[in-house]
Amino acid sequence: DDDLVVLGIETSCDDTAAAIVRGNGEILSQVVSSQADLLARYGGVAPKMAEEAHSQVIDQVVQDTLDKAGLTGKELSAVAVTIGPGLSLCLRVGVQKARRVAGNFNLPIISVHHMEAHALVARLIEKELQFPFLALLISGGHNLLVLAHDLGHYTQLGTTIDDAIGEAFDKTAKWLGLDMRKSGGPAVEQLAQEGDAESVRFSIPMKQHKDCNFSYAGLKTQVKLAIASRNIDAKVPLLCASSQDRSSRADIAASFQRVAVLHLEERCERAVEWALKIEPSIKQLVVSGGVASNQYVRARLDQVVKKYSLQLVCPPPNLCTDNGVMVAWTGIENFRVGRYDPPPPANDPDDFM
Ligand code: KG4
Ligand code: ZN
Repeated sequence: DDDLVVLGIETSCDDTAAAIVRGNGEILSQVVSSQADLLARYGGVAPKMAEEAHSQVIDQVVQDTLDKAGLTGKELSAVAVTIGPGLSLCLRVGVQKARRVAGNFNLPIISVHHMEAHALVARLIEKELQFPFLALLISGGHNLLVLAHDLGHYTQLGTTIDDAIGEAFDKTAKWLGLDMRKSGGPAVEQLAQEGDAESVRFSIPMKQHKDCNFSYAGLKTQVKLAIASRNIDAKVPLLCASSQDRSSRADIAASFQRVAVLHLEERCERAVEWALKIEPSIKQLVVSGGVASNQYVRARLDQVVKKYSLQLVCPPPNLCTDNGVMVAWTGIENFRVGRYDPPPPANDPDDFM
């Protein structure tokens, strides 16, 4: 079992990523090629452009992943690839590459759900993490609370009714004129450290709804209005802003982050209470997805789980944002229970999805 060696490929959004992981959880190599520069230039993900960017780098990313692991490809046991959710044009680049590699080396293919991979990578990090557990998955496109009963068996306790928290971080960064070359979230987190989180009174979303769903569209609007009322000009980069302008931007960043996370805290508390009724044996809350790399998010949710004597399991930041390791690992988990497809024909002329 530990001899399994799985290549994982991830192209669902704006990162082209691959990794090779062993059955015992050892990461042999990983490569992420980011389109963040493109995104900064065009202010968002345009599917056609993202597809081209994936196509340009996918062969090199996979080759580098093999080289770094010191493998030729023959040593692999299977290829795992994200099949959704995500931009279909982008997903297809990864799937075609996975089929070519699997065809060449006569390997089974494992289809991976992107959000399941965000959750399950926590089991690579924390070997004690058994099913059932509760997971909060927070990224640019998703905001999910799920009760993981078993592999492939999940109950969704809550989702967003409009935007995900990462989208709110990204727009806040853009409207505050922050450097978007990485992604918006880290820039807001950094600026928030200089600000007063109590200074701008944003209201917590959905307080009157006693469920586990999320909403970030209204908070986004509140941020936009606060920025407009302080005459902050996003075209003036932060580095060129006056010190007064800088501190009012920092106050907005800190106040936004505080309320965005209060919404998570409130929903997580309720989800823990619900989850304990359904699965009284749960011991952990997994928090994963790009926004889980935020240190403030981690610290606040750690306080929440402590009240219930649960353990917070957060993968390291580079495994919270999109990566190939989570795909390879979820592939391993599925492979072990026989969930894979037979090898595709080598040099399949109809190589499309
Ligand atoms: O999981 P991910 O890499 O891609 C998706 O599946 O969407 O998540 C990307 C999101 C972006 O919105 C990004 O701004 C956010 O995660 N993010 C952060 C941080 N790092 C990444 N948000 C807040 N604080 C961070 N440190
Ligand atoms: Zn993701």
